[in-house]
Amino acid sequence: MCGIIGYTGNEAAAPLVFEALTKLEYRGYDSAGIACISEKGLEIKKEVGLLSDVDAKCNFSLLNGHVGIGHVRWATHGKVNAVNAHPHVDCKGKIAVVHNGIIENYQELMGRFKGKHKFLSETDTEILPHLIEDFMAKGKSLEEAVIETTRLIHGSYAFLAISSDCPEKIVGARKDSPLLVGLGESGSFATSDPGAFPAGTNRQAFVEDGEVFVMTPENICFFNPEGNLLQKEFSVFKGVPASAGKGEYDYFMLKEIAEQPDTLRCSIEQEKNFFTELAMDILRAKQVVITACGTSRYAALVGRYLFSRVAKKFCDVIMSSEFQYFSDSIDAATLVIAVSQSGETADVMEGVKRAKEKGAMTLSIVNRPDSLLTRISDKVIHINCGPEISVAATKSFTNQLAIFYLLAYSMVNQFDLAVKKINDISHNMSYSMNGTGEYIQQIAELLKDENDFYYIARGINYAIASEGALKLKEVSYIHAEGMPAGELKHGTLALIDKGVPVVAICPNDYTFDEMLNNMAEAKARGGLIIGVSDRYDPIYDHWIKINEVEEIFYPLVTIVPLQQLAYHLARSRGKNPDKPRNLAKSVTVK
Ligand code: M6R
Repeated sequence: MCGIIGYTGNEAAAPLVFEALTKLEYRGYDSAGIACISEKGLEIKKEVGLLSDVDAKCNFSLLNGHVGIGHVRWATHGKVNAVNAHPHVDCKGKIAVVHNGIIENYQELMGRFKGKHKFLSETDTEILPHLIEDFMAKGKSLEEAVIETTRLIHGSYAFLAISSDCPEKIVGARKDSPLLVGLGESGSFATSDPGAFPAGTNRQAFVEDGEVFVMTPENICFFNPEGNLLQKEFSVFKGVPASAGKGEYDYFMLKEIAEQPDTLRCSIEQEKNFFTELAMDILRAKQVVITACGTSRYAALVGRYLFSRVAKKFCDVIMSSEFQYFSDSIDAATLVIAVSQSGETADVMEGVKRAKEKGAMTLSIVNRPDSLLTRISDKVIHINCGPEISVAATKSFTNQLAIFYLLAYSMVNQFDLAVKKINDISHNMSYSMNGTGEYIQQIAELLKDENDFYYIARGINYAIASEGALKLKEVSYIHAEGMPAGELKHGTLALIDKGVPVVAICPNDYTFDEMLNNMAEAKARGGLIIGVSDRYDPIYDHWIKINEVEEIFYPLVTIVPLQQLAYHLARSRGKNPDKPRNLAKSVTVK
């Protein structure tokens, strides 16, 4: 949620900053901006739109200078407009700041400056350059001013500040939002995501909560909140798996859906002994709580069924944004499992921090290596699906499911069996993808003007109904609800009318017979039934055929056509499924 980058060195800053922003755009894409310092002083270009559109309007390459900061925005405070886009400046236009996070007490701090400082935007961020300006006017250096500023602000932040009074220097600070620095041959960088470092940035260091750093072209030094110099180790940069392009696909979402048979096979590249140890942790724990958001939470719901069905271990799933309200019941005998693709979702981070405060053991299931979550959890499982670029999670979901199968089977000493079964399923997935794509595209074309979709399923497939509905809402902007099929008659049935699409996930398993009853109830009210199943029934108006697999493994094959349906509905409505409006890939604010 918002991406920031800073560079100071021997090369022209604007092209390097722009290039890094292209890799950060998944974090926010409603507006973008760059500020550079040259002999002429501080110059800024910022506008509303996708980065490429902003560049076309502003031409970032016209910015001169060897020091620059850049930002891609996902709006929290203030409308999406050019004034609210970052960087933000002080009254004299000498200091510029880019920020990711929320300064919670910005209004109170602005109140102190009433009449003294001129605020142009509606953002919380704008308080930062003015606070820095105020401290510098009192004789403080840029770094001293930033340290003083961090003592006044509350909330979460990763920010970078530059001043034309000290060109060459970038000062940054962080609390609860990701930020790291890197040293390369051409100079120093700071960014939200190591994937944005250019090649050759081979020494890196994480900025820890509360720390402030000063970057010059040759050096980066760190200070603690008291302003004392810190000795910091830089590690050799391991590199981030390159995110390949779209290849033959028009959109990353479709590419990532298609990659799933391969990425699923990567999920099972795990250490058996480690899983045996984790299985013992789960079985020993007095209570197990899984916490996650969005798609990752639906993977957790499948996990809950698996733990119960395979290993007879009950656990609960708590939405991370609600976790704090249950923390009274978390204690040292609790195991908290956090699931997150990005490993930096603020709600998940908050939950894990609370769990740790209560003495609980924490296990994270994460995709992004070296993410904040991996660094605070006691134990970490990597899902290994590679970079997921599309905002809509697809391949990370199926790999998260695979990890839950491995854990559940390890709890009954059958890790190897789970590995084999998942490997087999990956081949079934290829079949269902190749077999159904075109048919689903035709259904999407027929239904593209519908306003509401309902997704129903039972048992382990209920989470898949919810995930299918989330995918549809997210990328096509059609209202959709996923629910246990038995729940339909308790209220939602009132909304089923002639032609309303009801997507029924009804594999030929222990849920099929009761699903038939629920489909009949919907059909009797005029509902248009789209059956996702390996078993035909005349009740379907459209039948999306899937492969038969072992009962408990259906989620891995039923989700694929639902992802495809969401994608094709988005495309048939002319939407860009990779960058849905109002959303971002990493949600780093609460
Ligand atoms: O990175 P995380 O898995 O923690 O993200 C959680 C949700 O924000 C995420 O799954 C979101 O719901 C997806 N965009 C859904 O496709």
